[in-house]
Amino acid sequence: MASTIIGELKETVAFIRSVHTGEAPRVGIVLGSGLGNLSSEIEVEKEIPYEDIPHFPVSTVEGHQGKMIFGKLSGKRVVVLSGRFHYYEGYTPAQVVFPIRVMKFLGVETLLISNAAGGMNKAFRVGDLMIIRDHISLFVVNPLLGKNDPDLGPRFPDMSEPYDKHLIEKAKTIAAGQGITVHEGVYAGVTGPTFETRAEYKLLHIAGGDAVGMSTVQEVIAARHAGLSVFAMSVITDLGIREEDNIITHEEVLQAAAAAEPKLTGIFRQLIAVL
Ligand code: HPA
Repeated sequence: MASTIIGELKETVAFIRSVHTGEAPRVGIVLGSGLGNLSSEIEVEKEIPYEDIPHFPVSTVEGHQGKMIFGKLSGKRVVVLSGRFHYYEGYTPAQVVFPIRVMKFLGVETLLISNAAGGMNKAFRVGDLMIIRDHISLFVVNPLLGKNDPDLGPRFPDMSEPYDKHLIEKAKTIAAGQGITVHEGVYAGVTGPTFETRAEYKLLHIAGGDAVGMSTVQEVIAARHAGLSVFAMSVITDLGIREEDNIITHEEVLQAAAAAEPKLTGIFRQLIAVL
């Protein structure tokens, strides 16, 4: 008997295919807080609000629109998750990663992710971009806890290279060509919704984190479990590691993300073209 999750995925995919009858997308994109503008560049074939999609949670966070967008970007068929689900909103880890699994079942092979993150590496400034080279998932709940269904992926997935090194190299070349400075670093995942205390920023930095954020890590675990290639980039929206003057607000994060967005969009657009 198929597990509940596989049954739900099949129903969701059947629904999506019934309303979007075009060719299946090979590229999936998840856009983070204040980073949704890339979706305005898509030649849209179909937009499906999350509330219409069976088994989909509904997004509640300001700055997230909550729809799946199917269309063409840089000549490639893409599906964009405009608005993602965070653990801090009260969803289970399985709900957080459900849309990632839907993308896999739709035929997606490569996943591009963006997020807003707090900078901890002392070389980082607000508005900088960081390509995620690796992550620390130990402070979030692993979405693969519980019985494993082999139709989703292996029981003990390898995580030695969660972020595809060829995609990282391509993105670095693209950024250099566009005159955009990018850092590379380790993203430390946390649950939020509190921003970190000074002691916590310090701990995460000592633990090897260059940036910290409340998304992405669970998505990447599910994506790798399912065998997707992943590329992810953070916009540094605040500098948690500063000793003084480091009160952080969601508004500040959204503003910094919006200001840096054109750089991120430029890199994503060209990366999609060469996939
Ligand atoms: N911490 C956690 N999540 C974040 C931050 C931060 O400083 N900035 C943006 N998302």
